[in-house]
Amino acid sequence: MLSGKRILLIIGGGIAAYKSLDLIRRLRERGASVTPVMTRAAEEFVTPLSVAALAGEKTYRALFDLTDEAEMGHIQLSRVADLVLVAPATADLMAKMAHGLAGDLASTLLMATDTPVMIAPAMNVRMWEHPATQRNLSILRGDGIAVIGPNDGDMACGEFGPGRMAEPLEIVDAVQAALGAGRLAGKRVVVTSGPTHEPIDPVRYIANRSSGAQGAAIAAALVAEGAEVVFVTGPADVPPPAGVRAVPVQTAVQMRAAVLDALPADAAVFAAAVADWRVAETSAGKIKKQAGALPVLRFEENPDILAEVAQMGDGRPPLVIGFAAETDDVEANATAKRVRKGCDWIVANDVSPQTGIMGGSENAVTLISPEGAERWPRMGKDAVATRLVSRIAERIA
Ligand code: CTP
Repeated sequence: MLSGKRILLIIGGGIAAYKSLDLIRRLRERGASVTPVMTRAAEEFVTPLSVAALAGEKTYRALFDLTDEAEMGHIQLSRVADLVLVAPATADLMAKMAHGLAGDLASTLLMATDTPVMIAPAMNVRMWEHPATQRNLSILRGDGIAVIGPNDGDMACGEFGPGRMAEPLEIVDAVQAALGAGRLAGKRVVVTSGPTHEPIDPVRYIANRSSGAQGAAIAAALVAEGAEVVFVTGPADVPPPAGVRAVPVQTAVQMRAAVLDALPADAAVFAAAVADWRVAETSAGKIKKQAGALPVLRFEENPDILAEVAQMGDGRPPLVIGFAAETDDVEANATAKRVRKGCDWIVANDVSPQTGIMGGSENAVTLISPEGAERWPRMGKDAVATRLVSRIAERIA
């Protein structure tokens, strides 16, 4: 939550300024107060009146407004905030910031502030990719300015690529994380994600179809709540989310070592699809095809990382959460699995073919805890992550 936090929001002149109206609502929903400042160009896209109405505060518009100077000088305006947020940050504003220009209220505030600054760039893809903008970006990063986005996607100008402003909720999460204001600030959570690859020889391996999407979404939601996240990931399709400490591994044995290394933790979430078996004798050289002789692979069991951590005495994280992929009797099987593994909660996925969940973007989840089974409505993997992390926060915060 952002209760009691003051955000000075500088709205630059780009089409994404319309999203800033929603951003103000979202920031206030989480308890922040928002003091809006608009550049002259921003007023071409949204009106100071709508901004003020949503913020519940006056919109600051021009530098040389003597009445305002008497009320509150621009230096003070820039310092009473906990964070200065520039959204959208146009190429022009970024250039001004990088080079110390202070020709209007917005850029003067950015020069005068001694509080952390975050920018959410938004511009045409060519402008974003232009060497001048990229140069300015690295200057700003070097100055310690936090950058959220831009995202890839269709743009208002009809082109496609990086340049879309991050979504308001993403920005709010980043603000929350930057201010250490999440419910999980100061908590450490270990998350496993993705498949494991179990080698047969130097070029072949045994794997599974896990994309790592659900694990990454959970890690991102934990970061958004301010947690320190150690993200132990097998070779997944999706990249580790921003803000985690990613520990890439290949095999179950490596994943176990990385998890044990990451302890102690306040919670551990085991979202990885760990291979149950590995090949007992991996070949040092590539196994050659031989006429009439099929290779025989002997397997041995991989360590059950979830069970081991859930059943450790000293050093067991206070909250241990496993996943279960079930096709039949979801509740009964997952309930038995929770007891067998010794974890606190099991997030059971119904992966029967008719659900279309395997490989899809949605999930149908039943949360199994000692209190019983709670069936969640079918929802996107991000929504599952947000809801689960909210429950984690209620439990350990
Ligand atoms: N898990 C683990 N280490 C393993 C195997 C599984 O940490 N070697 C964790 C997974 O990350 C997941 C849970 O245990 O949280 C899944 O348990 P598992 O016994 O693999 O069950 P399912 O994959 O659901 O399927 P099955 O019951 O068929 O084994």
